[in-house]
Amino acid sequence: MHIDRRAFFATLGTAAAVSAMPSETLADALEHHMMETLDDETAANELKVRRGAGTLFGGPAPNSTTSPELHKLEPMPEHPTLVDFFKYRFAPATHVLQSATDALKKGEKEELILACLLHDVVLNLIKVDHGWWGAQLLEPYVPEKVSWGIRYHQALRFFPDSAVGYEYPELYNRIFGKDYIPTPYIKRAYEYARNHKWYMEARMITVHDLYAFDPNMHVSLDPFIDIIGRHFKQPKEGLGYDNGPVAHMWRTLNFPDMPL
Ligand SMILES: [Fe+2]
Ligand SMILES: [Fe+2]
Repeated sequence: MHIDRRAFFATLGTAAAVSAMPSETLADALEHHMMETLDDETAANELKVRRGAGTLFGGPAPNSTTSPELHKLEPMPEHPTLVDFFKYRFAPATHVLQSATDALKKGEKEELILACLLHDVVLNLIKVDHGWWGAQLLEPYVPEKVSWGIRYHQALRFFPDSAVGYEYPELYNRIFGKDYIPTPYIKRAYEYARNHKWYMEARMITVHDLYAFDPNMHVSLDPFIDIIGRHFKQPKEGLGYDNGPVAHMWRTLNFPDMPL
């Protein structure tokens, strides 16, 4: 712990007063000062937002305890497309781009590549229960299998499936703690998905997820523009303005600084 000598002696009074102090009194004062400073430092490191807050709202990265610097956001076009959201609100979107790149390289179907590309974009809005939120955000615009897979990838990631090479991620020991046991509703969602005909749609999202935390892999949205064009139903009014059931969620991503 760093002690600012000048600040410490300033708490004790004049130089004459300090030199007149018995050394025991000085030691007590120092200990007291250190305890107070430590309290201040701990308070400064505490999160100013809940951990489940979306990244655009100052939420922390899942494995960190610090919030990101909030920078001024560029205004979005009048009729924003999904690509605009990637560019202006989700960027750099490294994790989802790496995940989709892995799916593309391994020759997955286009719908699964799209699912990988979109599986975590809702983390910009909210982190808690992101599978369900993410599926809801995307449901009106993507094939049903895609949103289904996104909904259940959240539960499946806690449960290994060695048949497809999916083991419990080491990263989760750090995020959730070593002895973490998924809550009963997550286990029920897993069991439901495990027995569903679309199980693999969600499972493969978790598989490509494992190859999407590489700090050195450079990625771009370019290889996915045509896939988005073929499978994402872009509303002509723009995302947020189609009067659909989740338009307000897209507007919230568009205008995260609105006070009410
Ligand atoms: Fe996820
Ligand atoms: Fe992910």
